[in-house]
Amino acid sequence: MKITVVGTGYVGLVSGACLAEMGNDVMCLDVNSAKVAFLREGGIPIYEPGLEDLVRRNVQAGRLHFTDDVAASVAHGDVQFIAVGTPPGEDGSADLQYVLAAARGIARHMTGRKIIVDKSTVPVGTADKVRAAVAEVLAERGVDLPFSVASNPEFLKEGAAIHDFMSPDRVVVGADDEYTVGVMRRIYEPFQRTHDRLMVMDVRSAELTKYAANAMLATRISFMNEMANLAEAVGADIEQVRRGIGADPRIGYHFLYPGAGYGGSCFPKDVQALSRMAGEHQLPMRVIEAVEAANDEQKFRLARKIVRRYGEDLSGRCFAVWGLAFKPNTDDMREAPSLTVIEELTRRGATIRAYDPVAMDEAAKVLKHNPRVTFVTDMYDALEGADGLVLVTEWKVFRAPDFERVRALLKTPLVLDGRNQYNAADLKAAGFEYEGIGRA
Ligand code: UDX
Repeated sequence: MKITVVGTGYVGLVSGACLAEMGNDVMCLDVNSAKVAFLREGGIPIYEPGLEDLVRRNVQAGRLHFTDDVAASVAHGDVQFIAVGTPPGEDGSADLQYVLAAARGIARHMTGRKIIVDKSTVPVGTADKVRAAVAEVLAERGVDLPFSVASNPEFLKEGAAIHDFMSPDRVVVGADDEYTVGVMRRIYEPFQRTHDRLMVMDVRSAELTKYAANAMLATRISFMNEMANLAEAVGADIEQVRRGIGADPRIGYHFLYPGAGYGGSCFPKDVQALSRMAGEHQLPMRVIEAVEAANDEQKFRLARKIVRRYGEDLSGRCFAVWGLAFKPNTDDMREAPSLTVIEELTRRGATIRAYDPVAMDEAAKVLKHNPRVTFVTDMYDALEGADGLVLVTEWKVFRAPDFERVRALLKTPLVLDGRNQYNAADLKAAGFEYEGIGRA
């Protein structure tokens, strides 16, 4: 099938490459010509395991193309996926200008039937706006061409995006007519493993499903973070509590890990957008607002532990930070809890020696205003003379370090384990002062 994907960001590039891998002829459009040139030369603008090979293979096979020419991209695909950014506007609601611009671009150049698919995370009602924008441009052109607008939200996780796309738990398709449903079914047929995972629903329900899924997951995290804080206060161990509640199949073990707060490109933005969306209907989202407030608070947790240990004035102190990306297996620094930790410590006069296996370049860009941060290229170098180690992101390389070496390098053998990766008793026996999250 001939498919166009508008936008070569995270979702667009992964979707385009995966659709090509299944034998489709895919053209990816981006208005950023420099990015298109970079992609054509085999460059990949983001870090995502497996993506580089996947793109290369499909470009070589002639199934994946990149262009900045809107007319060519509109002519190419019978199906046009819109996968452009929906950044938060000033009030936290999703800014739809790029989605609507993409829709107008399609309308300006189309000469026959098109299926337009919203893949970007967009508020309920966006498909109607897209439909109206397309109709308006067609009317301006004085042409009457058939088109439909479907919603097909993406549930991919950074770091596991290709697996999530290739073997989805479910594929949600919101569509109003049988023709569109039939085409979407054909596109996703090869991605179904043992049974049909395609869920067809009305467009608005599909749009809301995406937000509801992310908000539910964010809720679990904030809930667990608050439980962890309570565990600390009452002398309990959240790791045991986690196992105790996870055994109930209604709760389950997934996504119950406390930490330094959730970050990334989805949860913070989507939780906010959901509140704004509900606000427009005069419906307060009490749970979601609390989830957001609890998360904002949690991001300060690790820095507060340091302040409790060393006092407000941290001048002359140095801390090692392991893990900068908002989670492992990505170089994404958006809303990363490490940023709050680092800002809070350096603001009080401390210096930071930071290490991340992949996100160091991204982190250096985001933190370039902060001369108190030194990036080191070896994880052990970060520890040299430090008053403590703060583990923020649970990359596998941090899982089982050489603790004797860690102990020898640190000035003060303090380990602040922001992801409960280490065995508290072992570390204490090895002479460390250890503190996790929610482990009294
Ligand atoms: C998320 C959703 O999982 C995905 O379905 C959606 O399409 C986009 O948003 P992503 O942002 O890539 O994906 O990362 P995810 O693995 O879900 O983690 C999000 C944040 O939650 C990270 O900061 C992570 O550290 C944190 N988290 C996750 C926890 O603190 N505890 C957990 O138990 C799980």
